[in-house]
Amino acid sequence: MQAMEDKILTEGKVLPGGILKVGNFLNQQIDTGLLREIGLEIADLFKDEKPTKILTIESSGIALAAAAGMAMDIPMVFAKKHKSSNVDGQVYTVTIHSFTHGNDYQAVVSRDYLTAEDRVLLVDDFLASGNALAGLVDLVGQAGAEVVGAAVAIEKKFQGGGEALRKQGLRIEPLACIESMSDTGVTFCHL
Ligand code: G4P
Repeated sequence: MQAMEDKILTEGKVLPGGILKVGNFLNQQIDTGLLREIGLEIADLFKDEKPTKILTIESSGIALAAAAGMAMDIPMVFAKKHKSSNVDGQVYTVTIHSFTHGNDYQAVVSRDYLTAEDRVLLVDDFLASGNALAGLVDLVGQAGAEVVGAAVAIEKKFQGGGEALRKQGLRIEPLACIESMSDTGVTFCHL
């Protein structure tokens, strides 16, 4: 998506440790015009899959997932991050390891919001090591629902998560894919 690449080039900041700061337009402050375009782009990419629900994980995925849900006129569900595990059995839960933060957390979705009839499109802001997306795939599996694919705003290809998940058969559509980056610039991959 050209608008996403342009925005990364003009407003993204490369930090040490392979982190791209996008707080100016995607994370803390959100460019709402770009967000609307993102929703329409995701809807167009996955219209033939006829998803019935969007699933993301709090917090930064929520805005993108809501935009995609609005564009496709389907509900959006987000997994909550918890420290505790499934106590009452009313939730699907999975442990996710955050490579970036170096910790584990539980992602939890109420059983009311994902059912075996659902065709689920996953949406997130970053695809890095792929643990968050893999966790969402696991939650959908627990519901007996089907994953139709995943849309991510930015894939950092050099972290390998996308390659591993594609090998498992997951269709992943990044709106921008970064081949490499350093303090001298960002190089995009063209899939
Ligand atoms: P994964 O998402 O592919 O599993 O990789 P990883 O464990 O490394 O990512 C953990 C968190 O770090 C995620 O957010 C992810 O969005 C974020 N992240 C990864 N790479 C970057 C980056 O280059 N720039 C920025 N800004 N964020 C990155 P989170 O901890 O779940 O937090 P939240 O912001 O969604 O609340």
